Amino acid sequence: LSKKLVIAIDGPAGAGKSTVSKLLAQRLGLSYLDTGAMYRALAYKAQQAGIDSGDGEEIAKLMESTEIAFGTGEPQPVFLDGKDVTSSIRTMQMSELASAISAHGAVRRALVLRQQELVNQGGVILEGRDATTVIAPNADLKVYMTASLEERARRRHLEYQEHGHDGSFEKVRSQIELRDHRDITRDDSPLTVAPDAQIVETAGLSPAEVAEAIARLIP
Ligand code: C5P
Repeated sequence: LSKKLVIAIDGPAGAGKSTVSKLLAQRLGLSYLDTGAMYRALAYKAQQAGIDSGDGEEIAKLMESTEIAFGTGEPQPVFLDGKDVTSSIRTMQMSELASAISAHGAVRRALVLRQQELVNQGGVILEGRDATTVIAPNADLKVYMTASLEERARRRHLEYQEHGHDGSFEKVRSQIELRDHRDITRDDSPLTVAPDAQIVETAGLSPAEVAEAIARLIP
């Protein structure tokens, strides 16, 4: 297997992209890039700085003096300017804020640049909403992972609970629906199935089974 392999995965919230990507990264010896965590970390910093989520230019500018780094472990540690924000960025409020700031073209351009620097080193599996279409359109394998809203809400609800955050199932479901809608309808790099992406339906499959299915698609 080539050390420089690049696998890009997109799909709506709660499709299981993170869990499956981590399994694949481990199995294939690739590094794992969680692009959504970067939106979350920047959203967190903007909030701490008191910047309005509607101010895309200010938030993009904030990124110039921002360092986002990943550690290894489960959950994967996320460092914002050297500070561990792993748990702080997984709240429902940060899901909402990350979704809001990700609609700004200026914010996307700033993050995509950083993401491409990491991807260009190769040997990586990245996941997000524009991984196959914008960040790594030349990836060796492009996958669009999906499942029903109900199933995705169930998974995300569990995840929040595991992180010790609350929020009823209904609230999680309506938030996911709203975030999906924003991701699909935004003007700048909306979530869409790349023409040459393989669609992987994950309903009823375990993360290991999905990882297995994707591994079989590697050219
Ligand atoms: O994947 P995750 O739920 O952590 O992403 C948080 C939000 O960041 C998403 O709702 C989406 O709006 C945005 N996002 C994005 N592009 C990416 C990754 C995440 O717009 N590549």
